[in-house]
Amino acid sequence: MTLILKNMIHHGRVRACYYHPDNPQLCVKVALQKKHNKLLQKEIDNNELFQKTLSSYVTRYYELVPTNYGLGLISDLITDTPTNTLSLRLRDWLKIHKSISPELQEQFQDFFKRLLKYKLWFYDFNNENFLVQKQGDKLRLVFVDTKSLNRNNSWSFFKLEYIIPTLAKIRMKRRIHRFYKVHHLGVPNSLK
Ligand SMILES: Nc1ncnc2c1ncn2[C@@H]1O[C@H](COP(=O)(O)OP(=O)(O)O)[C@@H](O)[C@H]1O
Ligand SMILES: [Mg+2]
Repeated sequence: MTLILKNMIHHGRVRACYYHPDNPQLCVKVALQKKHNKLLQKEIDNNELFQKTLSSYVTRYYELVPTNYGLGLISDLITDTPTNTLSLRLRDWLKIHKSISPELQEQFQDFFKRLLKYKLWFYDFNNENFLVQKQGDKLRLVFVDTKSLNRNNSWSFFKLEYIIPTLAKIRMKRRIHRFYKVHHLGVPNSLK
C-alpha cells in the first residue's frame, strides 16, 4: 500500500520529512532526488549500532515503504511532552533561548564524546540536524540526521586503516571545534 504524504515538517538539502498520515508518533523521510534513495537504507542498516552507542541521542529507523513521493523511511517523530507539539530544531530553539543552555551543553559534550569513542565519523553538525525535545521540565538533545556516517571498518587492506581513521578523527574534531566556536562556547577539555 502506498502512503499518501501531505504535511511536510521540514526539508534539508537531500530529504524532506513528513508527518506519517496514520500514526502521530512517526515521521517519513523521502529523498528529494531518486539517486539518494540508498541513503535511506543506510540509516536502517546502522540503526542497531546507533541504538547501542548513541542511545537517547538518536531516533529509531524502522522500514522503507512506498509513498506518493517515492521510497519513504519511517522513523520516530520527535515531539515535546506533555504538549505533543513538534520539537524545535536547534536553529529555532536558539531564536528563543539565544544560547545553548548548560543542560544541553552537557548532552552535546557526551554526544560528541561518544562519536569519538565509537569512531562514528560524522561531519554535519548544523543547527537543523539537532532537535531539542522538551520532556516536562527536562531537555533532550536528538540528532536526527545520521545519513552521513563514515566508518572505516571496511578498510581492511594495506595500511590505509592506520591512516584513514586518523584523518577521519582529525576532520571530525575540527567540525566539533567549529560547532563550539559558532555557538560562542569553549571546547570542553575532553574534546580537544
Ligand atoms: N525524527 C524527526 N522528528 C522530527 N523532525 C525531523 C525528524 N527527522 C528529521 N526532521 C526534520 O526534517 C529535516 C530534514 O531531515 P534531514 O534528515 O536532516 O534531511 P537532509 O538529509 O536533507 O538534511 C530536519 O532538519 C528536521 O527539521
Ligand atoms: Mg539534515
